[in-house]
Amino acid sequence: MRTQVAIIGGGPSGLLLSQLLHRKGIDTVVLERKTRDYVLGRIRAGILETGMVNLMREAGVGTRMDAECFTHEGTVIAYGDEEFRVSFREHTGSDVIVYGQTELTRDLYDAREAEGAKLVFNIENVVINDADSDAPFVTYTVEGQAQRLDCDYVAGCDGFHGVSRQTIPLTVRREYEKVYPFGWLGVLSETPPVHEELIYSWSERGFALCSMRNANLSRYYIQCSLSDSPEDWSDDNFWEELKRRIPACHAEALVTGPSIEKSIAPLRSFVTEPMRWGRLFLCGDAAHIVPPTGAKGLNTAASDIHYLYHGLVQFYEEGDPEGIDRYSEKALARIWKAERFSWSTTNLLHRYPDQSGFDLKMQRAEIEFLRSSEAAQKVFAQNYVGLPY
Ligand code: FAD
Ligand code: DHB
Repeated sequence: MRTQVAIIGGGPSGLLLSQLLHRKGIDTVVLERKTRDYVLGRIRAGILETGMVNLMREAGVGTRMDAECFTHEGTVIAYGDEEFRVSFREHTGSDVIVYGQTELTRDLYDAREAEGAKLVFNIENVVINDADSDAPFVTYTVEGQAQRLDCDYVAGCDGFHGVSRQTIPLTVRREYEKVYPFGWLGVLSETPPVHEELIYSWSERGFALCSMRNANLSRYYIQCSLSDSPEDWSDDNFWEELKRRIPACHAEALVTGPSIEKSIAPLRSFVTEPMRWGRLFLCGDAAHIVPPTGAKGLNTAASDIHYLYHGLVQFYEEGDPEGIDRYSEKALARIWKAERFSWSTTNLLHRYPDQSGFDLKMQRAEIEFLRSSEAAQKVFAQNYVGLPY
């Protein structure tokens, strides 16, 4: 088989790139290790920046998103029983939307399948060959059969545990990492959200986040120990702990119910450089991870896809390689800023095992500075709604 762009990974990055390129007449094949249902079963991001929203529209898959999403013009930040609101609209003129990664991925799969896209599921043993030559190819097995896919370019959209990043030799690749000493326990429940906007809450017992998917679907997270497993947390224990970590007025209003999903995510900051090696480009979680506190993971994947998509179109339509040659540089410039925001928001709102009395006072002073300073709120809002592409 031959294609113009071989895409490894059928998560949001790979599907979005495939859909955008298809609309410009550029052929792709998407190779996914799991099944479509497995990919759609992963409950992840919920907040989309305008840049991501516009890319979905440009890809022709914005109709359901526009009809069903909720616009959030600000967010609540709480500490103990105190809280304040940061207005995105007032400080930036922009906002974010709530639309689940599951829904967005479903829309992309539906569009790709309706257009007869080449999506191959359940593939194993993917190897990217000769990425530093003019004739790269990908080998893999599906149902025990060895396959070969020749291509012009390879897009590595296979997430943090994929093979694409490992294909770049260690002599070229540089990795930067910070692992945090806690995780997030997330619960999805068919209950009305506790508040109309998100609540990011610092508490003595650890961080909590109240989020949502729609009027009767809530997503809540609490900071947990890395040694915890979801089975350690009964629903009752989760709700009790959440209530202790948010202001009393919200704890009283919280509607609880059975969890329909419960999972733990470790927190990590990670960037690999460069994001291009020969004809291989890394996109999304394959190249970088942020701790989820600033809702930046999927949104940074989207900005990578924006730069790569425009670079590839510039190359195929005009024969100009400038966009793909500068892909890594452009993508990384934006990513490091999102990394900084995610890292600083994580530091601001979480309890650390080794935090001293001084550290706690500093955290409190920083939260109170954010509360009282228009300038600090503007900086927070600019980062939260997403820096320009
Ligand atoms: P992935 O979604 O990981 O997709 C990669 C795909 O590649 C997968 O389908 C995988 O099966 C496949 N694959 C892997 N290895 C191979 C292989 N060898 N061969 C073929 N296929 C392979 N981000 C936000 O922006 N906002 C949020 O609110 C937010 N909340 C989050 C909450 C949680 C609890 C978590 C865990 C993440 C959150 N994120 C958030 C991050 C966001 O979910 C990720 O950044 C996003 O999924 C990245 O998309 P991706 O397509 O690059 O990678
Ligand atoms: C969600 C996840 C986040 O990491 C975040 O910062 C905001 C919302 C969510 O899953 O809804």
